Amino acid sequence: MARFTIPRDTYMGDDAISNLKDITGKKAYIVIGSNRLVKDGTLAKVEGYLKQAGIESKVFIGVEADPSVNTVNKGVAEMNEYNPDWIIGIGGGSPIDAAKAMWLFYEYPEFTFEEAIKPFNLPPLRQKARFIGITTTSGTATEVTSFSVITDNETGIKYPIADFNLTPDIAIVDTNLVLSLTPNVVANTGLDVLTHAIEAYVSTMATPLTDALAMKAIEMTVENLEKSYAEDVTARKNMHIAQNLAGMAFSNAILGIVHSMAHKTGDIFSIPHGLANAIYLTYAIEYNAKTAPAKYVEIAKQLHLQGDTDQQLVTSLIDLIKNMRKDMNIPATLKEFGVNEAEFLKRLPSLASTAVADPCTGTNPRTIENSTMEKLYMAAYYGETVKF
Ligand SMILES: NC(=O)c1ccc[n+]([C@@H]2O[C@H](COP(=O)([O-])OP(=O)(O)OC[C@H]3O[C@@H](n4cnc5c(N)ncnc54)[C@H](O)[C@@H]3O)[C@@H](O)[C@H]2O)c1
Ligand SMILES: [Fe+2]
Repeated sequence: MARFTIPRDTYMGDDAISNLKDITGKKAYIVIGSNRLVKDGTLAKVEGYLKQAGIESKVFIGVEADPSVNTVNKGVAEMNEYNPDWIIGIGGGSPIDAAKAMWLFYEYPEFTFEEAIKPFNLPPLRQKARFIGITTTSGTATEVTSFSVITDNETGIKYPIADFNLTPDIAIVDTNLVLSLTPNVVANTGLDVLTHAIEAYVSTMATPLTDALAMKAIEMTVENLEKSYAEDVTARKNMHIAQNLAGMAFSNAILGIVHSMAHKTGDIFSIPHGLANAIYLTYAIEYNAKTAPAKYVEIAKQLHLQGDTDQQLVTSLIDLIKNMRKDMNIPATLKEFGVNEAEFLKRLPSLASTAVADPCTGTNPRTIENSTMEKLYMAAYYGETVKF
């Protein structure tokens, strides 16, 4: 038995934000990050469309990257005064994730982060407000996912909240909002999308529904990512749709060890999330395909890659990712990225054990022990072939 949950409505394409003029309600609380959306006029447009719908709005500006408990608490206090019936997160993953957590604690003031991080443990939301996610980055897909990640800045503890109650009511994937992304961010976040789609496709929780979405996301990413990196406008817009498809897939099928590994090294070595995934992806496929090649073979065939045997097809898929990485100036190893060797080796045992314990490891197609995870990290550090 499986469950599949996505937003009730998704609006996509150029000027998709104009659909806000047709929603019904009274008061919207809008959560954004920096002043960027004020300066480029997006916020004014959103407020204008809400006004046409007869909805007044109040704005929270200032969600930082990797949003904090403090930011969430500030927003909740304002919401308690303002009493919105819509919450709208606009931005990359950070503002939308912050808005999701504000929504939870606005509805349940006595709830705690400690309770919230128990997977799929939230009480029913939508008692006071509904949620709209408007995404401006093509990667995290938090506008369609059941996740929110909040950090306690004082302790450094991350609170990953996962519950289908957090899946937004409405997702808006406005393709005009991503033209301002820099090529560097396009590359990192785009390889995150490819990782989401591949990990969801090979996940032990994959279903025919998530497979369809993941496979289409893989095809679209392979077709469009490098063109988007080269500033092709159509390809940039297609990547925005592809990230949404991948999001629906991984929100329901979950991920695998690429994300487990990336989660543990991101903060410590300051590796952007998508870039870390891009490095680990090829090594993880080599490892997983030793016992579970079938779905990688399906991907390779769907992409019309060369190969007569399963092994050749998996190798072609790995080579394709290596080439994409190279074409977009993404390092192939942790060493090449600049991670200090002594520091890496000192931390290796704890990196490996915490990566194995990461929730994403549970849906990886091949099981992994701490000692093998150490070897996999070593392979990704030095660029070695995975023979185990
Ligand atoms: N909820 C989920 O499913 C999920 C999944 C993965 C990661 N996350 C979380 O998402 C956060 C990262 O999100 P992110 O990568 O989208 O980055 P972000 O929201 O932190 O934004 C990164 C930077 O990009 C800028 N930016 C955003 N859109 C832009 C645009 N269109 N043009 C130019 N600049 C733009 C922002 O102003 C910011 O400076 C992390 O907190 C991570 O933990 C959430
Ligand atoms: Fe990711």
